Amino acid sequence: VTGVPERVSTGALPGWDDVESLLHGAYERSAAATDGVVADYIPILAAVDPDLFGICVAEVDGGVHAVGDAVHEFSIQSISKAFTYALVCQEIGHEVVGVRIGVNNTGLAFNSVVALELNDGHPMNPMVNAGAIATTALVPGVTPTAKWEFVQDGLSRFAGRRLTLDVTVYESEAATNLRNRGIAQLLESYGRLDVDPLDAVDVYTKQCSLRVNTRDLAIMGATLADGGVNPVTGERVVDESICRDTLSVLAATGFYERSGEWLFEIGVPGKSGVSGGIVTIAPGKAGLATFSPRLDSAGNSVRGQRATAYLSRTLGLNVF
Ligand code: DON
Repeated sequence: VTGVPERVSTGALPGWDDVESLLHGAYERSAAATDGVVADYIPILAAVDPDLFGICVAEVDGGVHAVGDAVHEFSIQSISKAFTYALVCQEIGHEVVGVRIGVNNTGLAFNSVVALELNDGHPMNPMVNAGAIATTALVPGVTPTAKWEFVQDGLSRFAGRRLTLDVTVYESEAATNLRNRGIAQLLESYGRLDVDPLDAVDVYTKQCSLRVNTRDLAIMGATLADGGVNPVTGERVVDESICRDTLSVLAATGFYERSGEWLFEIGVPGKSGVSGGIVTIAPGKAGLATFSPRLDSAGNSVRGQRATAYLSRTLGLNVF
């Protein structure tokens, strides 16, 4: 491949010359927390070592810094929703996605059926399961296989390497995801899905089962922070305006009913997943990723939130 642009350093942001020791500080301060529980509604997720803990930061000039279990692989789960949303917005545009999927917080759990019923079957936003399944249904491709390949290829471009399916996680979730199948069929009953609901859930389940580590997630986040250009590969993945759309939706909905608390404490958009990952995007600066499997009652990693709060304060990331 030719024409990969040379990355120009953004120069020293305040405090960033010390990013390595701040990462160790975030790790030390958060590792002691053992509250929260590992997700078990997807049976295989309960088998994880709950003490795993990794943090990685990828700067928009391409610098990558890590501590702990930063290259331990886990399934991306709901973090995939942010990146599939960006890819779908890129394909079908701000207006259509805004109307069909929505951008408002439900104030309810990520897998709420009540939220759908309260809103005439409208999914409300792309980060809850209903909205994510509806978004995946809009992925280009006539067949489920074509849609899956589009998602796998697109998320891989965000990460800068080929991401692969964790077949064990996929099979575990596919065998137990009755609730997501119910949500998809409810969407169909309201006339809000143009494809077979079970096909849409299947592609969504595969998307959630892609294997990543915190380095991948940090680079994926840094791509959104960098206006859509992957800072490690130099490839443009989505347009700058798509990053703006995605980040504003994440700010409002990335942590479900706890999104307000996240924004209040951390001040930049992020997205969590039930396997224990969190990606945080500091626009123009960096992507941050944490992995620690113990979750709070909304499904967000406890240590991950602590570590990210520490880094946001010490690196001055809060955009407000
Ligand atoms: O659909 C599900 O329930 C999972 N595949 C993903 C949920 C998730 O990650 C929620 N996050 N905190």
